[in-house]
Amino acid sequence: MRELPLTYKITFTSEALSSHFFLFFPLRTMTISPLPHHVAIIMDGNGRWAKARLLPRAAGHRRGVSALECITESAARAGVKVLTVFAFSSENWARPKAEVTMLMKLFASSLKDWAQPLKEAGVALRVVGDKTAFSDELNEVIAETERETAGGTRMTLNVAANYGGRWDMIQATKAVLAKGKELTPEAIEAELTVPAVDLMVRTGGEYRISNFLLWQSAYAEIFISDVLWPEFNEANFLQALTWYSQRERRFGRTSEQLEQTGN
Ligand code: IPE
Ligand code: IPE
Ligand code: MG
Repeated sequence: MRELPLTYKITFTSEALSSHFFLFFPLRTMTISPLPHHVAIIMDGNGRWAKARLLPRAAGHRRGVSALECITESAARAGVKVLTVFAFSSENWARPKAEVTMLMKLFASSLKDWAQPLKEAGVALRVVGDKTAFSDELNEVIAETERETAGGTRMTLNVAANYGGRWDMIQATKAVLAKGKELTPEAIEAELTVPAVDLMVRTGGEYRISNFLLWQSAYAEIFISDVLWPEFNEANFLQALTWYSQRERRFGRTSEQLEQTGN
């Protein structure tokens, strides 16, 4: 059982978030148990958030970065050990060129801004996905951020960029074969970029996986929120964790079996 500080009464603005990244305001405590070890989030709805405010899509993506700062902080504070977020899918290259260019620039500048606060918060950042498609400059920023935060033991933040679940399964399979090993689920799992997911959250109300963690979400509990990503806050995240804590994860077995074994 964990005591969690609950801070959703605080309203952050994006400016306040960047200057108060990882500040800690305990107002009251609540208990959520069991917690998911690995939470994955499909951060969707930036464009719709902007459109509803007659703003360019870029404004939605920028607010999306602030939301990620907030949720990273919430997850680390709650005791989540691995957080994997979908930042750019292998299919998102099909978007208008100006949006793709904007997203790549925002990715690089966000990584530069985050390195220090993440390091201080004990969060190790990793970028997962096919990085060969990125510019040398972006790859250098990624490598530098990963290096700088590598010592973080509190939580790992995997940022999935140019990521596709099918790509991950193929690269893992190739790695197993290259090592001359037999193709088994365990061998493939050991080569995938991230481990099995316990809780998968999708914001923006769509009921699909969009080629995210296909293998790893085989037994994930799936929480769909209608809230658009730029507005997804700590209260929404804690709601997802609470919902998860009430699920019965049967992994193919029956409820009666679980009661008998106490699992
Ligand atoms: C998710 O928000 C961010 C990325 C895919 C980069 P969207 O940009 O997909 O927002 P909607 O779905 O159009 O609202
Ligand atoms: C999934 O969102 C990818 C990310 C959140 C990065 P999309 O907006 O690309 O998904 P679809 O196209 O609606 O399935
Ligand atoms: Mg979308």
